[in-house]
Amino acid sequence: MCGIIAHLATDDAVNGLIEGLDRLEYRGYDSAGIAVSDGSDLSVYKRAGEISDLKSDLSAAPLTGKIGIGHTRWSTHGPPTDENAHPHTGDRERVAVVHNGVVENHRRLRKQLRADGHEFTSETDTEVIPHLIEEYLEAGDSPEMAFRRTVDDLEGGNAVAAVFEDEARIFASRDGSPLVVGIDDDEYYLASDVPAFLEHTSDVIYLEDGDVVIVEPDQLRILDPDGSSVKRSHETVDWDPEEAGKGAFNHYMLKEINEQPTSLTNTVRGRIDAEQEIVFEELDTGIFDGIEEVHFVGCGTSHHASLYSARLMSRAGICARAFRASEYVETSGPISEKTLVIAVTQSGETADTLAALREATNRGAPTLAVTNVMESTAAREADETVFIRAGPEIGVAATKTFTSQAVTLALLSQKIAGELPQATLREDLPELLEALARIPEDVQQVIDQNQAAELARDLLTYDAYFFIGRGSSLPVALEGALKFKEITYEHAEGFASGQLKHGPLALVTPNTPVFSLFTGEEIEKTITNAKEAQTRGADIIGIGSADSPGQSVSDAYLEIPATHPVCESLLANVQLQLISYHTADLLGRSIDKPRNLAKSVTVG
Ligand code: G6P
Repeated sequence: MCGIIAHLATDDAVNGLIEGLDRLEYRGYDSAGIAVSDGSDLSVYKRAGEISDLKSDLSAAPLTGKIGIGHTRWSTHGPPTDENAHPHTGDRERVAVVHNGVVENHRRLRKQLRADGHEFTSETDTEVIPHLIEEYLEAGDSPEMAFRRTVDDLEGGNAVAAVFEDEARIFASRDGSPLVVGIDDDEYYLASDVPAFLEHTSDVIYLEDGDVVIVEPDQLRILDPDGSSVKRSHETVDWDPEEAGKGAFNHYMLKEINEQPTSLTNTVRGRIDAEQEIVFEELDTGIFDGIEEVHFVGCGTSHHASLYSARLMSRAGICARAFRASEYVETSGPISEKTLVIAVTQSGETADTLAALREATNRGAPTLAVTNVMESTAAREADETVFIRAGPEIGVAATKTFTSQAVTLALLSQKIAGELPQATLREDLPELLEALARIPEDVQQVIDQNQAAELARDLLTYDAYFFIGRGSSLPVALEGALKFKEITYEHAEGFASGQLKHGPLALVTPNTPVFSLFTGEEIEKTITNAKEAQTRGADIIGIGSADSPGQSVSDAYLEIPATHPVCESLLANVQLQLISYHTADLLGRSIDKPRNLAKSVTVG
């Protein structure tokens, strides 16, 4: 995820661009830049680092111009360096471009452009865009035609904004990544999100996929993919600018829960190709040679995602175990060059996870980091890295990063199973891949149902809350309980459903509802365990699909769309995120910053 802004001003565009970038910082913050023009020369300044670094450089050496574009980056292709920061220009520097999304066919385009003599200066997918535009300009196209033909050549979900040398216009397009227009009398803004310009105007136009926008000093034109002018309606946004980073949501956590269809689309994009092969383009699969066992290390939510993946690997016949990173040294047993150690860490900075990663390296194991942050310590120290592409997460309670971790790790487990001779591929792999590719829509369906908000009202007066599951659903039961305790401050525990009668049942009373995951492959056994709790007076809150036999034993039921058994618990997890959120909200808790907790724990 990245943030883009463009501004056509009556005097100078730079302040509007910088303010916009500040407001978009939640979308990315590892590099930033702007390009401005007065309708003649283009000036570009960009650098790795935070927006505050860009600002202080620009106050020492100001740029001016009535039109401009800006970008704040969250790296996906190429690390955060000055060269990889946006805006990008072509060889002749006739155009500067900012971009949000992934150009899926960038490799092919780059190869073709190289063959035509273009030289690239960055590792980004974005850089093909200015080169392509220049290629069309050289061939005699007008800027408008060159821009339209270029965006038409791009595959994937992309939003682009461009300024040209000798042109007092801004060109932009939206196709699968967000872009909104703001109109402030004679001034115009374009941005990834409304808060970027809300200080100046609440008059907005939401663009549609396939739209190209041309902003000129006295007019705004919107073209459809055929080049015909189209009208899009104006809307008035009534958010408080102070709170606008959260958009229409009261908390970042709720915003991030709602972002999951988008973050998961980014997570799966390009990972499953047309031949149903699993693709991790950033990964050298040579790391799997000779591997006999897999160890996962992680903390908190990342440990739960690890447990989920370890179960999928075990099922494929791979010896796989998930360790709490803080316990790794004591409990790992022998580690060798045949042990692949996978560090799962959203931030890439958790001290205990880094310590486990270093222990593995010292003991000769090949290491792989699965993280959300390029250039994080884990990404730099591990032999190989896979990115979950969830975009920045601000709420302390991990939500969208968990689902992106789990989906990435589900794909990775099947990839590794395909690489190791001792493993067997699932017979239903095509169905599983299909379900993983469909997860963004299924999650959207769960969010749209909005059942959890209602149920949360009945949940406020209990003594404790239990979560049970089995097999691939147990990690989600543990995650459900973690989320619930983190943000409601109520006592919540997750148990393997088959273990209830070995102790936890002593805690069960009519005052302890039991969230029961009727998902995955052994639902009947969980039903039996849930009934054991129900007999002791506990209310059973079941989570499962409409045709799950768990529904009939449940006192309340949260429904998920029908999907592959392996994916069911991931959808159930979204219901549990919403239950925790709404319960905490009704209890008036500090949801985005729960007491005593931190987003990134960098001490061991
Ligand atoms: C902290 C956070 C959790 C997170 C854990 C691991 O405890 O509060 O939300 O799951 O750290 O963080 P990581 O960045 O390594 O995934």
